[in-house]
Amino acid sequence: MTNTDFYGIYKAMCEKALEAYPFSGAPETSVKAMRYSLLAGGKRLRGVLALGGCVCAGGRAEDALPASCAVEMVHAYSLIHDDLPAMDNDTLRRGKPTNHVVFGEAQAILAGDGLLTEAFVSLSSIPDPSLAAACVCCLAEASGSAGMVGGQVMDMEKPSDAGAEWLREMERRKTGCLIRAAVELGMICAGADTDMVRRGREYGTHLGAAFQAVDDILDVTGDEKSMGKSLGKDRDENKLTAVTLFGLDEAVDMARRETALAVEALRGLGHEADFLRQTAEKMLKRVN
Ligand code: IPE
Ligand code: IPE
Ligand code: MG
Ligand code: MG
Ligand code: MG
Repeated sequence: MTNTDFYGIYKAMCEKALEAYPFSGAPETSVKAMRYSLLAGGKRLRGVLALGGCVCAGGRAEDALPASCAVEMVHAYSLIHDDLPAMDNDTLRRGKPTNHVVFGEAQAILAGDGLLTEAFVSLSSIPDPSLAAACVCCLAEASGSAGMVGGQVMDMEKPSDAGAEWLREMERRKTGCLIRAAVELGMICAGADTDMVRRGREYGTHLGAAFQAVDDILDVTGDEKSMGKSLGKDRDENKLTAVTLFGLDEAVDMARRETALAVEALRGLGHEADFLRQTAEKMLKRVN
């Protein structure tokens, strides 16, 4: 089977689990607003990486489904909040009006809060308590102030002396941490040893750096319809990105270098790592 086949299979598994997710006890408005963004499509890269990471480490993809749902919930929450008027002020996401445009700012903030919290409910369904606890630690650290939230804080600060080091750190936190955690969560669910998890972390870190550089590039060169979000916003909003700081050519080089380093992190592993290798290459060429 080719990578596209496996990507499609893992994506469908993740979608199905998200669609069936019960959100037990939540009021109707909350479920509606959370499901609106969670089930609006998207590449499901993080959910897919959790399943692919699990298989790479010798597990069964279905064993990582609670982690796959959890990381997509955190991602959906991060997008809802990222689009708010107080942050990037975007009105289009995944080809649909953004959450706050449909439900209002208060409900959008709460939908994000609900998804973040529900992610940890999902992880608590992992049957082995020590693996569940390891997953909770991994996702909490990657999502919080040392991870995604910290990166968003840096993104909003826009210091005037920002250089290469600042950009690497901001993008590592805001995007890299969750992508790295997705792979790591999958590997944890497979009961992977420390060497495998170390490789997964390194792979995910470089893939995350490449992924955000490509996002910065596509903000300039992408097609709004296939991206499903407003483009050209980084320049309009004076964002500091790989492109606005260093130009398109350097951003492309950066994405290529980081992709090569992601693949390099898996050197010595066999066919079980092919899916992760091919996914890194696929994300470099993505158009959405
Ligand atoms: C968008 O992420 C936000 C970034 C971290 C760049 P994706 O490009 O993975 O968005 P979806 O999930 O496919 O919509
Ligand atoms: C988003 O970065 C990162 C997170 C949501 C954490 P961007 O602001 O560049 O993402 P897009 O371009 O709006 O998808
Ligand atoms: Mg942003
Ligand atoms: Mg944004
Ligand atoms: Mg962007």
